[in-house]
Amino acid sequence: MNDINKVLFSAIQPSGQLTIGNYIGVMRQWIKMQDTHTCLYCIADLHAITTRRSPKELRRDVLDTIALYLACGFDPYKSIIFLQSQVHQHSQLCWLLTCYTYYGELSRMTQFKDKYFQGNKNVNSGLFNYPILMASDILLYKTDIVPIGKDQSQHLELTRNIARRFNSYYGNIFTVPVRYMVKHGSNILSLLNPCKKMSKSDSNKNNVIFLLDSINSVSKKIQSAVTDSNNPHSIHYDMTNKKGISNLLNVLSGLTDKTISDLEIEYSGKSYRQFKSDIIEIISDILIRLQSSYFYYRQNEEYLENILYYGSSRACLRADKLLNKVKKAIGLI
Ligand code: TYM
Repeated sequence: MNDINKVLFSAIQPSGQLTIGNYIGVMRQWIKMQDTHTCLYCIADLHAITTRRSPKELRRDVLDTIALYLACGFDPYKSIIFLQSQVHQHSQLCWLLTCYTYYGELSRMTQFKDKYFQGNKNVNSGLFNYPILMASDILLYKTDIVPIGKDQSQHLELTRNIARRFNSYYGNIFTVPVRYMVKHGSNILSLLNPCKKMSKSDSNKNNVIFLLDSINSVSKKIQSAVTDSNNPHSIHYDMTNKKGISNLLNVLSGLTDKTISDLEIEYSGKSYRQFKSDIIEIISDILIRLQSSYFYYRQNEEYLENILYYGSSRACLRADKLLNKVKKAIGLI
């Protein structure tokens, strides 16, 4: 893929420490695409306030996230790296699109339903309208491609429907974006319970490899990751009967770019112990490099804030053009 005129948009919510799931599912792809596309990478802090946290925590998580973006190799002069709340057009478009999105559509969103039925005490309207803000993020920039993990597919489908609906009333205002999902690695699962997604908000930290985990902790977590007991020496991909092993194969494939079938051949006849020890080594190599760069950036908060202001002012210019077009189309003076 190489088309510098194609716009790529993606975002991460600063709702906790980033995980190896975020890294494999999207961040690794973003880095590769910044040379071939016009890229906007957003930190979705307005999405993060749908759950209650202290101002101190929110600020810390935003700065941690931008430092990690830089440590991963995002270039703030090549791409536009910005903070959602600093580009007011996102909230404005969100209200406009709220009037073109139906209650029934939002109530079918599985992420919302999961939160609702899990007995979450803070089911605020922001949580319900969350996908409309996400649609606004994407549509404001005439985005062609959206790299996402599997858990965001339904939100992207809704975005496409909103764009088509709006265009059917007012002409060709929005670009209808397509999703970009890696073949293996778009759904990295929890280490101890590979029936659910690896998530930064998991209350059991042993389910998750965080990008800022110590190497010792990575080693312990991978060693205790569930495998299976039926055939201890068979390392092959089978999402029905060998979820744990398949998940670890996805992690390895996502970090090395080796195909699953190549990995199956490489590990044929080898023990789970060897397999896990190689995964620990590969993750550790990546995290050691990433963390040393992260700590370098993280200590200079003023620099990080300036990078965000710079990116946000560039994003504002682009967002303003489209927002004006939308307002004019609707008839707002
Ligand atoms: P968030 O912050 O939960 O996750 C950021 C991105 O990482 C992907 N991801 C994963 N991929 C593979 N395996 C996993 N275990 C895993 N966990 C997370 C997510 O699919 C996502 O692509 N609402 C979004 C943030 C957002 C956004 C947007 C994304 C706001 N506006 C516009 C794309 C476009 C979210 O909470 O992602």
